[in-house]
Amino acid sequence: MSNEQDQWNAVDAYFTELLAPGDEALDAALAASTAAGLPEIAVAPNQGKLLSLLVRAQGARNVLEIGTLGGYSTIWLARALPADGRLTTLEYSAAHADVARANLAHAGLDKLVDVRTGAALDTLPLLAEEGAGPFDFVFVDADKVNNPHYVTWALKLSRPGTLIVVDNVVRGGRVATPHPDDPAVTGTRAMFDLIAQEPRLDATAFQTVGSKGYDGLLIARVTD
Ligand code: SAH
Ligand code: DHB
Ligand code: MG
Repeated sequence: MSNEQDQWNAVDAYFTELLAPGDEALDAALAASTAAGLPEIAVAPNQGKLLSLLVRAQGARNVLEIGTLGGYSTIWLARALPADGRLTTLEYSAAHADVARANLAHAGLDKLVDVRTGAALDTLPLLAEEGAGPFDFVFVDADKVNNPHYVTWALKLSRPGTLIVVDNVVRGGRVATPHPDDPAVTGTRAMFDLIAQEPRLDATAFQTVGSKGYDGLLIARVTD
């Protein structure tokens, strides 16, 4: 691993130990995810803490997540909800969803969280039909090629003031140049174009370094 990455890991470890330490349920969720062979791509602890702080600052009661994996980010999000809050999380892989459900039950959050299996572009219309929205906070962290569609759905299921956070929008800097053969970059760039032209969204994005390398987040607010 590069010198730079070692330094980013050391600083993240320092922040995490002081401000976003693990606990039994979070540690168990990561351990069970690894044991089940899931990719180790969950948000870092200090990023999970950011999600939790944003949900709290927002006073969110109804949260949507697109891309559950083993439910690690889901635990951070759900813990920021009030006792009568609700979190719906969408996951394509039935195997990932099973791991997430077990992790959420172990964390005592299964009453608050609904893990829906299926391609999000199939399950999002069902949520709309059910009247599951409006969501106060949406975290987009699934297949990056569909980012423009996910932001469009997030907007459809929103209210004025809803916050939409999108993970992994920098990917080592690749976002800044067209990569016609990488659908993830093409999708994320199409999402930025869409947001830039959408008067109902007010947004920023920033680059981050840390234990997850060089990447970044987009944060958008639905205008009043
Ligand atoms: N939010 C998680 C990480 C999600 S990784 C965390 O930080 O802990 C991305 C997840 O999106 C994977 O589990 C993957 O299976 C899922 N995914 C990929 N394509 C999808 C799709 N079309 N619909 C829903 N989920 C999808
Ligand atoms: C990948 C996906 C993520 O959501 C992430 O945070 C990091 C990496 C990936 O697919 O490689
Ligand atoms: Mg991610």
